[in-house]
Amino acid sequence: MKKTPIILTYVAIALTVAMPAVVPTGAQAGDEDPEKTLIMYYSRTGKSSVVGDALQKELKADVLEIRDTQNRSGTIGFWRSALDSYLDRYADIEPSKPDLSKYANIIIISPIWNWNICVPIRTLISRTDMSGKKLVVFTTANIDIKKYEPYGDDAPFVKRFFRDYLRKKSKAMRDLASASGADIRGHFHVATKDITEDQIRQDTIQYIQQVLCAFSLPSCVTSFVVSR
Ligand SMILES: Cc1cc2nc3c(=O)[nH]c(=O)nc-3n(C[C@H](O)[C@H](O)[C@H](O)COP(=O)(O)O)c2cc1C
Repeated sequence: MKKTPIILTYVAIALTVAMPAVVPTGAQAGDEDPEKTLIMYYSRTGKSSVVGDALQKELKADVLEIRDTQNRSGTIGFWRSALDSYLDRYADIEPSKPDLSKYANIIIISPIWNWNICVPIRTLISRTDMSGKKLVVFTTANIDIKKYEPYGDDAPFVKRFFRDYLRKKSKAMRDLASASGADIRGHFHVATKDITEDQIRQDTIQYIQQVLCAFSLPSCVTSFVVSR
């Protein structure tokens, strides 16, 4: 009679020892989930954070705000940001190295500064290994970044100058994102000058189907810009 509890104890020990071997490795905590999306954004005046919020609500994604230890508020902050951007400086960002291990899909949202990704997000992208991650970038700016694209080579000099300048800047952004190892699936832009928060939300969620497609099919890779 007394042997039963002893046998049960042996069985319990045997099961405990054997358990890790039968749990599939894919189920371990911290592993990448193909369905999971992380939205990372920086916002100086709140517009990019509206884009992030609209995307989060549609995609049920996790959100991480990238903060900058530098004070960039007000007029002084504006000019400091413009100068840092012009001089291609980097920022002290928090978190300095986000943990992306759980996420297969990444969305990065950045305001445009001097026709470039803003300094905090440029810092983030340049120091983050995104190898194997699918990446969609959203930018916000006063105006449509494709405004000068329709101009041909017979257009007035100034129009051609801006068209080529913006093409060069756009290529630099793409090269930066490629250097992180990310599989770039799309770039969407929301123009924010003189529009309401609700309009920013509307302009953002019109891209949801394209974002979902971009993450699920390589053939959906796209670049699209809101024109105003
Ligand atoms: C330093 C600086 C430079 C900017 N440069 C541009 C620019 O080159 N083109 C543009 O259309 N908007 C430019 N903007 C405007 C912002 O991109 C735009 O207002 C953006 O939506 C702000 O996003 P946020 O509120 O998330 O910071 C600039 C803003 C700052 C602070």
